[in-house]
Amino acid sequence: MATWLITGAGRGIGLELARQLRGRGDDVIGTVRDADKAGALRELGARVELVDVADPSAIDALGERMRGQAIDVLVNNAGIGRFGGAVKDLTSEELHRYMAVNAIGPILVVRALLPCLRAGERRTIASITSLMGSIADNGSGGAYGYRASKAALNMLNASLALELRGEGFTCLVLNPGWVKTDMGGARAPTPVDVSVRGLLAVIDGASPEVTGRFFDHDGKSLPW
Ligand SMILES: NC(=O)c1ccc[n+]([C@@H]2O[C@H](COP(=O)([O-])OP(=O)(O)OC[C@H]3O[C@@H](n4cnc5c(N)ncnc54)[C@H](OP(=O)(O)O)[C@@H]3O)[C@@H](O)[C@H]2O)c1
Repeated sequence: MATWLITGAGRGIGLELARQLRGRGDDVIGTVRDADKAGALRELGARVELVDVADPSAIDALGERMRGQAIDVLVNNAGIGRFGGAVKDLTSEELHRYMAVNAIGPILVVRALLPCLRAGERRTIASITSLMGSIADNGSGGAYGYRASKAALNMLNASLALELRGEGFTCLVLNPGWVKTDMGGARAPTPVDVSVRGLLAVIDGASPEVTGRFFDHDGKSLPW
């Protein structure tokens, strides 16, 4: 039995992660932004913590509340996405928002929870990125803020993996596929339970030898 902390666990991939982990008896601490949206998470028997990952002081407060407690696996899942768009339509505010939620938030969550992760047995950090953050795979362009923020998340993870390698950490970035959630939309080919089963198999099967790598939910290695 392990203790997992999952950000953005009130719906979508985060909630399904909580559901499958609780189903196998693991402890889950799920974060939401709005306590009113934590009903499904509470029904699973998960502990609920409030945090907006775009708010550094809220992340620090989460770190304070977690002080002295061990976390085995952190899943940086919370994210925002909207696709399409041409360069003429970009705004500074939108670009900053993507960076704040999808890239800066996750690394600040790691910073805040590092003592808890050091106290855990698995020392694993899995950040949910996207194939859209792959420069090598970018064949259609657009989605500037989303693509750039996920590429930044990938690079933050690469440095994190190197820094924590000596302590036996496994730091991964994982693509969940195109998943039927609010973000993925109804046309997405991958049901959320299938994506999450794959993600959990990759996380459970990972060891420090693969720290810093970028994997698909089926375990395939992805191009940067
Ligand atoms: N679905 C896909 O096809 C797909 C593909 C590639 C990657 N991903 C990645 O997978 C992750 C989960 O996506 P999803 O499909 O489950 O999306 P989703 O259904 O839109 O859920 C997004 C989750 O992130 C939370 N969130 C958003 N902004 C936040 C903030 N500022 N602070 C804290 N939580 C915040 C949301 O909470 P609220 O309910 O409070 O808004 C929600 O729980 C994301 O990182 C996404 O980029 C998804």
